[in-house]
Amino acid sequence: MSTLDELTALIAEHEQAFTAALAAADAGAPAAREGALEALKVGWTGRKSGKIADLMARLPSLPPTDRKAFGQQVNALKATVEGALAERETALAATRRPAHAVDITLPGRAPALGHRHPLSLVREQVQDVFTRLGYQVLEGPEIEDDYHNFEALNMPEEHPARDMQDTLYLASPLLPSPEVAAAEAHAPAAGSARRGRRPLAPQPLTLLRTHTSAMQIRHMEQHDPPVRLVAIGPVYRRDNLDLTHTPMFHQCEGLVVGKGITLAHLKGTLLAMAEALFGAGTAVRFRPSFFPYTEPSAEVDVACIRCQGHGCPVCKHTGWLEILGSGMVHPGVFEAVGYDPGEVTGFAFGMGIERVAMLKWDVGDIRLFYENDLRFLEQFSL
Ligand code: DAH
Repeated sequence: MSTLDELTALIAEHEQAFTAALAAADAGAPAAREGALEALKVGWTGRKSGKIADLMARLPSLPPTDRKAFGQQVNALKATVEGALAERETALAATRRPAHAVDITLPGRAPALGHRHPLSLVREQVQDVFTRLGYQVLEGPEIEDDYHNFEALNMPEEHPARDMQDTLYLASPLLPSPEVAAAEAHAPAAGSARRGRRPLAPQPLTLLRTHTSAMQIRHMEQHDPPVRLVAIGPVYRRDNLDLTHTPMFHQCEGLVVGKGITLAHLKGTLLAMAEALFGAGTAVRFRPSFFPYTEPSAEVDVACIRCQGHGCPVCKHTGWLEILGSGMVHPGVFEAVGYDPGEVTGFAFGMGIERVAMLKWDVGDIRLFYENDLRFLEQFSL
């Protein structure tokens, strides 16, 4: 037989033990708290072997008159235990992440932005320079006729200069679209209905343009001077693939025509372009050369961007890198389009976009521009 006093003391001990266990759970690491509270719940309020159930089991050992008082004490303890545990459970639930929740405290994932192709970057930079200088930007057809690509540029059939541009011819010539044919038949001229020496009928398109210089002719046939244009786009030659050749590459053609245009304008313009492309203070050098459509003609070099002109493997120890061909427009070209060489003068130049990109970023193999390897392409930005 137990006495009520004994059991009351036991309940007080239990109460103290619970308070201590709860304090320990509260003080534990937040991650461990949930487990600790669960253990307390099982240990204290478990139906079969929880401490409260154990206390209740002692009820029959008391004289019947004491049972009610003891029962109330046990119930009070039970309410304390359950109340304390419920309170903590509610607090924990409030901090628990709902299933599938997004953790807004994680750093964001940057969206994968694309890169512009290095050749597009150069092309845009060139366009930018010349747009600021007041040029118009043209493209023009990639399938050309012999007249615009060669003949009107002072390269008649059998001219040896044609050999420098090994040409891809179409198996069967195409006729120009009706719109192009109509525009060509009515080429507006300075005052007259027609001018220049182009044959009257539209020429069948027989080849892939070997250079953008054909656009000089196309534009001048249709427009009176003054002219200030760049024409940028793909050109084609029968070259085998190697480190510096691809059968398709890109050129930028420049043409300025007007009264009193001189070599000094050409030089100033190309210097401005070189500085924009390769950095302020980039020196340029003009070397006498030959092109059938310019006289005088010059090849233009920029001071080696790797060694600043001191000499290194990139510039083959010359200190200079060739970037383009240029010159003063040949009077024969003006005659071909019906301009009066006694009235106007002009300059022209032609530059390889791939070559500029290769020099600018020290790329040793032109084929890399066309292989679409992201490890290569992602390295470029301006
Ligand atoms: N058409 C030449 C080439 O493809 C480049 C060139 C040289 C263009 C001199 C010009 C020029 O306009 O005046 O190699």
